[in-house]
Amino acid sequence: MHSTDRSHLGVNMSKVRIAVVVGSLRRESFNHQLAGALPTLAPADFEFKPVTIGDLPLYNQDDDANQADVVKRLKLEILAADGLLFVTPEYNRSIPGVLKNAIDHASRPYGRNAWAGKPAGVIGVSTGAIGTALAQQHLRNVLAYLDVPVLGQPEAFIQAKEGLFDASGQIGAGSKAFLQKWMDAFVGFIHMHQNSKTVQKGQAPP
Ligand SMILES: Cc1cc2nc3c(=O)[nH]c(=O)nc-3n(C[C@H](O)[C@H](O)[C@H](O)COP(=O)(O)O)c2cc1C
Repeated sequence: MHSTDRSHLGVNMSKVRIAVVVGSLRRESFNHQLAGALPTLAPADFEFKPVTIGDLPLYNQDDDANQADVVKRLKLEILAADGLLFVTPEYNRSIPGVLKNAIDHASRPYGRNAWAGKPAGVIGVSTGAIGTALAQQHLRNVLAYLDVPVLGQPEAFIQAKEGLFDASGQIGAGSKAFLQKWMDAFVGFIHMHQNSKTVQKGQAPP
């Protein structure tokens, strides 16, 4: 089996699979809406799979040797992905606890970090004027430690304003060109990592 072959994880190898992690559990979340709309800007061979994090228990290191089934599921979803898309609000100038909880879960037990080596994009929308800039910066710190290469530019700090989404819930006309540029860069970044990859990290069973 080739080192990048993930067919044993039930992966359709003809698609570029992106695991989407949203940092909000809110029903009417802008970030959920953004995460749902962004795939329309991606090429047809990209497949975006939402990852559920709202059902995870609070992380407790005592459970590392016996991770809950929902944690194992999360780790398998990450391992099966070619890349990651984090779409997060900013809570008190950082990332929401639910997102950090999910990141911590899939990073453990020590030596079995599911995130390692997965190229990622970070984006977010908030009602505040700085549009998740500080949350994204904190997230970049965490991901750097977890050996996740993150798209550097362009950055996308989005403020929730009238017209961000159109009546059908898709990205509004005023934001489309900007977000298309971001998506094109993200797609290029994922391809660059696929092409340069010789050894796929993080492929050990969770
Ligand atoms: C606990 C909490 C802390 C927040 N802190 C910030 C913040 O630091 N910066 C900011 O721009 N917005 C902040 N907000 C407002 C969020 O941007 C807003 O609630 C946004 O809609 C959350 O994203 P969502 O719609 O995807 O749930 C905060 C909201 C909550 C509930």
